[in-house]
Amino acid sequence: LESGCLSIVVLGASGDLAKKKTFPALFHLFQQGFLPPNEVYIFGYARTKLSDDGLRDRIRGHLGKGNEASSEFSEAVSKFLQLIKYVSGSYDSDEGFKLLDKEISLHEQSKNSHEGSSRRLFYLALPPSVYPSVCKMIRKHCMNQSDLGGWTRIVVEKPFGKDLSSAEELSAQLGELFNEQQIYRIDHYLGKELVQNLLVLRFANRLFLPLWNRDNIDNIQIVFREDFGTEGRGGYFDEYGIIRDIIQNHLLQVFCLVAMEKPISLKPEHIRDEKVKFLQSVLPIKDEDVVLGQYEGYKDDPTVSKDSNTPTFATAVLRIHNERWEGVPFILKAGKALNSRKAEIRVQFKDVPGDIFKCKKQGRNEFVIRLQPSEAMYMKLTVKQPGLEMSTIQSELDLSYRQRYQGVTIPEAYERLILDTIRGDQQHFVRRDELKVAWEIFTPLLHRIDDGELKPIPYKPGSRGPKEADELLSRAGYVQTHGY
Ligand code: BG6
Repeated sequence: LESGCLSIVVLGASGDLAKKKTFPALFHLFQQGFLPPNEVYIFGYARTKLSDDGLRDRIRGHLGKGNEASSEFSEAVSKFLQLIKYVSGSYDSDEGFKLLDKEISLHEQSKNSHEGSSRRLFYLALPPSVYPSVCKMIRKHCMNQSDLGGWTRIVVEKPFGKDLSSAEELSAQLGELFNEQQIYRIDHYLGKELVQNLLVLRFANRLFLPLWNRDNIDNIQIVFREDFGTEGRGGYFDEYGIIRDIIQNHLLQVFCLVAMEKPISLKPEHIRDEKVKFLQSVLPIKDEDVVLGQYEGYKDDPTVSKDSNTPTFATAVLRIHNERWEGVPFILKAGKALNSRKAEIRVQFKDVPGDIFKCKKQGRNEFVIRLQPSEAMYMKLTVKQPGLEMSTIQSELDLSYRQRYQGVTIPEAYERLILDTIRGDQQHFVRRDELKVAWEIFTPLLHRIDDGELKPIPYKPGSRGPKEADELLSRAGYVQTHGY
């Protein structure tokens, strides 16, 4: 990391995201020495009137990872909390941001008396409706002005708009204030260990290179399930729905990494160029390739509209028009209040031609990458059943991260991504043109849902979702294998 003063400003500091994700991620970076106290100061900014200690008290309980009892841990917590200062102000007031700038400058003067540049990182843990005004205020009052160099960067969370036109409008507003190198659009799925592993897996293993195409792969599923509903977030969720909340961003990013061509290098621009190119080859989604669901009881939430048409579940088959993937369905599936919590990629290979073992009924080769929980990769293979008979069974080559990498702590997605923003590495962040194509893919479908032309099918909480989704899966060519 560069040296010099670093000011991290968490806007929306009193909110849920800041408390549950941003501050804990900063704390873990602090614990690992990435935020040296002689250089770093953290500012919380929000409308709520709070003292510095008031904010610290709110955060304290969220920093643990199961080792709260140790004295080393409590010492680290208090050292970290001492780095935090709170500034209260509204999101469109000159006074508030002038005050914030004054506090940052004071900190910079005290730290920069000896050497170094000034780095200012603004993390917007806020609803997107206030992004434009907050960014305007930052631009007007809080930019790094140091002669010694440095930078100003902003980090924004999804949802980046609600459809193509609103996303484009938001991008244009931010684009007038900051250049693309200053804007970090976070998609936290890009910070997950096994998502980051996808390019390595595909492009550093000779084994996969010749197999990863329409000649060998029958279908690919990218699945996200949660075993809880929209508890406490009904108001937000009802406005967005599962496609905007999960599929258009998290699953689409995974989809890119699974299916895009090899970038010419690992430079962020090269990777993002490939993603854009790939997304441009996705065909418009047809109605018959979509199943929507809404869990029973969703509308009991008082913050959800009584006649809500918002899907809490969706399966969509995406089809690609390029040389590698023509004819291979990619099934993107996400749902809330299902029977389990899991995110995984399932690559199902075609049947073996001329099957002399008659083992087809046992299933196909399948390569599964489990992003969470308990990260793992396994390959389903047909092997000879051990023993005297010549019969076959399905077995697995299994790489479970917990067993294989005992003692290695897998960093949280936010931790890794915040470190990237400090390092200035945009590889795992969404570029403006990439966001535009992502919205282009889903906007026609979303508008049809918003207009009530497509309706979600009710499903029982704790179930697999609507049975129509399983039927769609079979129509797309997925064959259920045995043993799992
Ligand atoms: C968020 C969504 O982006 O991702 C939530 O808004 C969802 O609805 C969450 O629960 C899932 O993240 P993870 O990392 O727990 O899979």
